[in-house]
Amino acid sequence: MQIYRTIEEMRAATRAARASGRRHIGLVPTMGALHEGHLALVRAARAACDWVVVSIFVNPLQFGPKEDFARYPRPFERDCQLLEAEKIDALFAPSAEEMYRAGATTAVEAGELSARLDGRSRPGHFRGVATVVAKLLHIVEPDIAFFGQKDAAQLAVLRRMVRDLDFPVELRMVPIVREADGLALSSRNQYLDPAQRKAATVVYRALMRVQTLADRGERSAQALAETGRAVVAEEPAARLDYFEIVNPDTLEPVADITQGALVAAAVYFGATRLIDNLVLLGAGEVRAPELPR
Ligand code: PAJ
Repeated sequence: MQIYRTIEEMRAATRAARASGRRHIGLVPTMGALHEGHLALVRAARAACDWVVVSIFVNPLQFGPKEDFARYPRPFERDCQLLEAEKIDALFAPSAEEMYRAGATTAVEAGELSARLDGRSRPGHFRGVATVVAKLLHIVEPDIAFFGQKDAAQLAVLRRMVRDLDFPVELRMVPIVREADGLALSSRNQYLDPAQRKAATVVYRALMRVQTLADRGERSAQALAETGRAVVAEEPAARLDYFEIVNPDTLEPVADITQGALVAAAVYFGATRLIDNLVLLGAGEVRAPELPR
């Protein structure tokens, strides 16, 4: 595994790989503090591509002024070991100064999607995500880029960007990887104290309750969302940010779930904000299996 710190070296390496006959170049963008969720993306890339690049960059542009940018975990040596074991080809780990040169003012506006779900609670977040992913796609020039269903709203924003701005890349979604008790893996789970960690399982329980009711025939998005919110409300350590049922492409609320829907939740435990979601399938759709740890 080669580590590249500059845009020029990274781009040259991918172009050299392509010139030497690699036909499927895969990119897995991350902010590091890698866990099995990230590694599921890496394995999907390894299986589908003959040259795999992972990026680690804690992107200042996608954090709000009062958010956790400064204390976001950065265990770089450990991340490198995990990626070596996955036999990736290249790690792109630029500095903030390398990615955002002095005087840079251009950004990607994600439009109306960026004001929905996480974008409503985190103004500027999706603009920061779209901008850094646009840059990574230009630098690495992958054929396929891999993203987790865990950040379903992020993926909706990025799909729209790729479509609207004609990026020559396929975006692939990898299912959510969870702990044994259902908690979705996240680099932010390590902020939780033991009591919060226990309380955090309420998010998955709320989603499962919605799934059960939907399986029993409830079609009303409002009724399902209210049930989900009520489950979260039973946990005193949880503070709900949102629990919504939306169209997975537009992120707009849906009235009923007959055509399928995204059930998305964001919940605070102390200062830590966790997100999770569930895809309800429309009639005739078949579910992809969730990945074991
Ligand atoms: P990060 O939070 O590090 O996540 C990197 C990728 O891993 C994202 O596509 C995310 O959806 C996926 N992921 C995280 N937890 C997962 C889980 N439990 N199961 C499956 N996939 C999971 O998302 C970002 O970084 C950034 O916004 C980024 C896209 C890198 C842009 O800065």
